[in-house]
Amino acid sequence: MDAFVIEGGRPLRGSLRVNGSKNAALPIMAAALLTDQPIDLRAVPDLADIDNMKRLLASLGCHAIESAPGAVRLQSIDESSSHARYEIVRTMRASISALGPMLARRGEARISMPGGCAIGQRPVDLHLRGMEALGAEITLEQGDIVARAPRRAGGKRRLRGAPVFLGGPFGSTVLGTANVMCAAALAEGRTIIECAACEPEIADLADLLIAMGARIEGAGAPRIVIDGVDELAGAAHEIMPDRIEAGTFMIAAGIAGGSLTLENCPLDALMALTNHLAEIGVHVEEHPGSDPRRARCDVSYEPRRDGRLKPAQVTTQPHPGFPTDLQAQLLALLCLADGNSVVTEKIFPERFLHVAELSRMGAQVFRQGPTAVISGVARLVGAPVMASDLRASACLVLAGLAAEGTTTVHRVYHLDRGYEKMEERLAALGARIERVDAKELESAPAQG
Ligand code: EPZ
Repeated sequence: MDAFVIEGGRPLRGSLRVNGSKNAALPIMAAALLTDQPIDLRAVPDLADIDNMKRLLASLGCHAIESAPGAVRLQSIDESSSHARYEIVRTMRASISALGPMLARRGEARISMPGGCAIGQRPVDLHLRGMEALGAEITLEQGDIVARAPRRAGGKRRLRGAPVFLGGPFGSTVLGTANVMCAAALAEGRTIIECAACEPEIADLADLLIAMGARIEGAGAPRIVIDGVDELAGAAHEIMPDRIEAGTFMIAAGIAGGSLTLENCPLDALMALTNHLAEIGVHVEEHPGSDPRRARCDVSYEPRRDGRLKPAQVTTQPHPGFPTDLQAQLLALLCLADGNSVVTEKIFPERFLHVAELSRMGAQVFRQGPTAVISGVARLVGAPVMASDLRASACLVLAGLAAEGTTTVHRVYHLDRGYEKMEERLAALGARIERVDAKELESAPAQG
């Protein structure tokens, strides 16, 4: 298994282009199951999760052809199988995104119930309730969700539009909203999704569905109205930039110090982060004339000029609130603030596996349930640490950039799920970071 070895203490300088969004691309790829026509996608990121989704779709008769970096054509050529098998689904929870499109187009779907993961139990009850509201019959058989659309006159199975409420104990559900929106696009009649997720990735998916011929209004707002159509056609679409990748690099500039220019940055989807960065003392400045959805912006923090980082009170919320996917990264930054910060995790209350690892680097973090109190320290000290999930691994890499001495982040396969060549991109910005095979570290002679 690979690890990153980081020599901390070097500022980041230079520019980098933000890649297409993993969390937009995954449900968008699954939407290719809604038609037998080609779907041409651009700006598809080169990530482990994307490869897993290609494997899942191929097992469902939907094949991917890559014509150029980031350019992927998806087309369903064999719609006979509707069984998303455990072997693939267990590798990626977002496989659940195939449920709605498959049920809508093929009339039935069998998909392994996704398990929990390091950040929480990850139920799919809201997804299933949404499918049932559209008339589906849902059963659980040997760990699989088995869903069937009702038979209509003439024997064809087809969902029917209906009001769907997607509010859960932690707000709405992003992939649940994607599933219901896709299923409703081919249902008979009107669907109103109340308490829909407002994340920008939902609006990006709706843009593709509308290009395919779907009739959708309100995506990106809590109420979405969908009037089902009989067929959807092929379409072309460019994936929106990844706001979580962009936010991660913004925080990297803050924790390592220095100045970065980000290209293709979805600044208008990051106001909750830039608001906190401003109060902490990290400067974000948009270049005049940028498109705020694909902006060019400078992010900088120079300790000599700006003094110490300042503490903050942060609570994760559904969009447009502060995103849970940036909580671990911002918590790493707050470990170096001059004072006490408070981070409250309202989306995944268990999402604090990074705290124990940060403590190994000298951070002072006290967790009480969904809240962590961070008592800022003057410096972090490099140490061997273990990644547990995608965003926790990003947090530990950022901490390593700032720490004195050497930090080894083990199990960076977690990181490869959501960040393309992160070590190469950070090294190009001046960081001392390299990817090694962890076995090499075991056999390396102890430092004398
Ligand atoms: C998406 O996951 C993202 N993944 C996650 O990013 C992100 O953390 C999450 O949204 C929240 O923003 C992708 O888009 C591929 P949810 P999703 O359903 O849709 C509860 C990353 O790091 N819930 O919005 O699966 C759930 O337990 C990943 O890139 C139910 O109770 O998340 C959670 O507390 C991690 N019942 C809350 O809702 C359900 O049926 C939000 O979950 C579904 C969810």
